Amino acid sequence: MTKNKNNKTIWNTRIKGKSSSLFQKIGSSIEIDKRLYKEDITGSIAHVEMLFKQKIISFKIKNKIIFGLNKIEKEISNGKFEFNKIYEDIHMNIEKRLFQIIGEEAGYVHTGRSRNDQIITDFKIWIKSSIKKINSNINLIIKDILKLAEKNIYTIMPGFTHLKNAQPISFAHYLMAYIEMLDRDKKRFLNNLENLNENPLGVAALSGTSFNIDRNFTTKKLGFKKPTNNSIDTISDRDFVLDFLFSVSVCSMHISRIAEELIIWNSDGFKLINLSDKVTTGSSIMPQKKNPDLLEYLRGKSGSVYGNLFSMLTILKGLPISYFKDLQDDKDLIFRSHDTLIDCLQIFNEILRNLTPNKKNMSQLASSGHITATDLADYLVKNHSMSFRKAYIKTAAIVNLAEKKRKKLEDLTISELKKIEPNLTNDVFKVFDLTYSVRSKKSYGGTSFDNIKKMIKKYKKQL
Ligand code: ARG
Repeated sequence: MTKNKNNKTIWNTRIKGKSSSLFQKIGSSIEIDKRLYKEDITGSIAHVEMLFKQKIISFKIKNKIIFGLNKIEKEISNGKFEFNKIYEDIHMNIEKRLFQIIGEEAGYVHTGRSRNDQIITDFKIWIKSSIKKINSNINLIIKDILKLAEKNIYTIMPGFTHLKNAQPISFAHYLMAYIEMLDRDKKRFLNNLENLNENPLGVAALSGTSFNIDRNFTTKKLGFKKPTNNSIDTISDRDFVLDFLFSVSVCSMHISRIAEELIIWNSDGFKLINLSDKVTTGSSIMPQKKNPDLLEYLRGKSGSVYGNLFSMLTILKGLPISYFKDLQDDKDLIFRSHDTLIDCLQIFNEILRNLTPNKKNMSQLASSGHITATDLADYLVKNHSMSFRKAYIKTAAIVNLAEKKRKKLEDLTISELKKIEPNLTNDVFKVFDLTYSVRSKKSYGGTSFDNIKKMIKKYKKQL
């Protein structure tokens, strides 16, 4: 273990009194921002390389600092680094240790920069890589959904509106709708890169610096697209934090909606899907129970994720521009939202692997509620030259008749049907067939089997 011998904060030269332990507890962020150690060291290395290139520090000092920083990275990675609350945050913990390893020359590392630009640099690099991680988790889910969809192209279930039987749908079409939602999530995360790709490093405390630094050099080194334009905006801007928290919120909301839908389908009233024991839990008193707790967890977690977004919006509201300590909480919010989302994505994936459709119940439920009534109306328009509105009224009369006779539409006789539309022939009965109905929805984006196959192909190619 490396011990910090001189337990003094860097600014102790002017602030003489020891800060209260309560202040240390509240003010110190090291327990949270130590997660940024790699990004902090990467940023510092780029910074000193630039200082050397610009002849602000010597070759020897640059190398010494980089040697020390690499050593610190190894210490932290191997769990051999002792973080100390009194040095407040990740930047000061690393700088303090750098002094211990290379001596006084460590004092050059902070030339022409401030913790204000340093923290945003670390944070932006971290968020950029976490977006990659999130999107690759989303891709894993999309792959599993595609597998399930492929197996269920011909599995017919009721499509619901208002949770009432609406029109027959392929189960795969529902699944492919989930892919659309997740695909938008991926795009939303990628859209965040636009702002994330502006390099904050070099704006220093708030006004820039009098040193002849080269911000384009660090921009390139750190994989950003361009340096930020205005030093004061740079240190106060946390829009990129909001963008990320919003993207996580929308993705969680999607997962929550899907979870709720699956909970309904899994309920004893519907029994449309089965969940294997791997993803259900029992009750402590009711021996028969298998509860979809994990789905409920997914639904519930959107609450805390929204909370994080609202916390950040509230922190920023009314905060004058430039740096204030209020901003420090952004890390905790982002880390918590990120971790929750990664958990949710992984759980969601596990549920999909342990979910099977109850095909018999799906088709039974789809055969109720006069679900092919719209198909009948469409048939009248196409074959008996009438407007849709007229066909709608005729079909409603046929549905009323079926209800009066306590029959399904397909069980009405041709003479019963003819009472409402005399020109009907036996040909009409084909429209009551669920497969016929699904197959006929060929318009782009519709549920026809052919459309679904094409979409599956498209997404498989994309992955
Ligand atoms: N730990 C701080 C934060 O996360 C770093 C910036 C500190 N700057 C300052 N002037 N106190 O916001």
